[in-house]
Amino acid sequence: MRVDPDLWPLTTRVDVEGRLCVGGVALNEIADQYGTPAYILDEADFRYRIRRYRAALPGVRITYAGKALLTKRVARWVADEGLGLDVCSPGELATGLAAGVDPRSIVVHGNAKTTGELRAAADAGVGRIVIDCGTEIALLASQLRSPQEVLIRVAPGIDIHGHAAVTTGIVDQKFGFAVAEGQAALAVRRVLDQPLLRLAGLHCHLGSQVTDPAPYGEAIRRMVSLMADVRNHYGVVLTELNIGGGHGVPYVTGDAELDLEKLARVIDDALDQACATERFPRPKVAVEPGRAIAARAGVTCYRVVSVKHRPGGRTFVAVDGGMGDNPRVALYGARYTVTVANRHPLGPTQTVTVVGRNCEAGDVVANDVQLPADLHPGDLLAVACTGAYHHSMASTFNMVGRPPVVAVHDGRVRELVRRETTADLLLRDLG
Ligand code: LLP
Repeated sequence: MRVDPDLWPLTTRVDVEGRLCVGGVALNEIADQYGTPAYILDEADFRYRIRRYRAALPGVRITYAGKALLTKRVARWVADEGLGLDVCSPGELATGLAAGVDPRSIVVHGNAKTTGELRAAADAGVGRIVIDCGTEIALLASQLRSPQEVLIRVAPGIDIHGHAAVTTGIVDQKFGFAVAEGQAALAVRRVLDQPLLRLAGLHCHLGSQVTDPAPYGEAIRRMVSLMADVRNHYGVVLTELNIGGGHGVPYVTGDAELDLEKLARVIDDALDQACATERFPRPKVAVEPGRAIAARAGVTCYRVVSVKHRPGGRTFVAVDGGMGDNPRVALYGARYTVTVANRHPLGPTQTVTVVGRNCEAGDVVANDVQLPADLHPGDLLAVACTGAYHHSMASTFNMVGRPPVVAVHDGRVRELVRRETTADLLLRDLG
């Protein structure tokens, strides 16, 4: 199958010339106009994913995690579709505000927020600030001129058994307060002692690429039990429980994804059970998906620059981008799906390693993919599932400017972020 619908954007088609089209536009035409590499974004897919969430989880508050992919227009799509926005830096907050997102729908995260950041967030009127450490409690309180709603981030001690870099629910990692030794309870006490801090509830985030909904049920049970402890000790009934994001998506054919209908059932059952056991009123649940909304909307286009057959038998296809626009292979050993996008892939195929243009041997775009045996310089390659954590994690390694983000919708093309030029990079170099 050339374009597995589980991996490619909703509107992906192949035209009579064999060219891959997204949003009614041939990727080759976008590549000719905007150059390569380029991130292409299918607005219809992005909005479709949000609507799927809203339909599957009607009683749950959904906040989009902007760290996955954020531009002003993306923030507007998110707001248009009725979602909140989760930010974790002044830059992400500024992007949301510049897009006109209602600050009350913004949730501010971060394990090392500075005084200035806390003040800026409070002054902007954000809906929630998620408190991650003890220092932050007094620091935030000292910056406030009016009441601020906050959540307390808890590490519930749940292991998703994923990549260590994205395992955040266990106790032995940097985020949040542990339940053990009364750390989370003490944080609650200290927040309650601050007259301008309004404690709305608790937050946890288990990690990334979670495809089994069961850990979210376990998180709810543990968090509701903590909420009941808070009520029993301090007489305060917390009403909000944010269970974070981390919903897994497929990158190659056959990969699992988190089933939203199953997630909805797990959330409901866990709430029923935990609230009955603790005799606790059902809190309002919130989730924060990033990848599951953005990933499949994105495709990255590269031009083939060279094809090298090694005496040992491996074939390296070098393209004009690489770990600068996609560090995920080097960081997490991520796997990707690649196809030729400018023509029919006729004839036999070969197994190749697609590599980038950056100066290190670990600069791989995709390992062991099947591409036409006659692939040659000038061919256009498209890599699926690159909407999340690509644009947002790109670097300028080797003084290579970052690619543009180009949105497509109903045959229209709109450049959301322009390519970073060498002149842009030199502007910061003060000589
Ligand atoms: N909420 C919190 C508090 C988070 O820390 C994250 C992600 C999310 C929500 C959204 O998670 P998602 O649904 O997108 O998985 N750079 C890594 C991913 C790091 C995610 C960090 N936090 C990657 O490229 O796979």
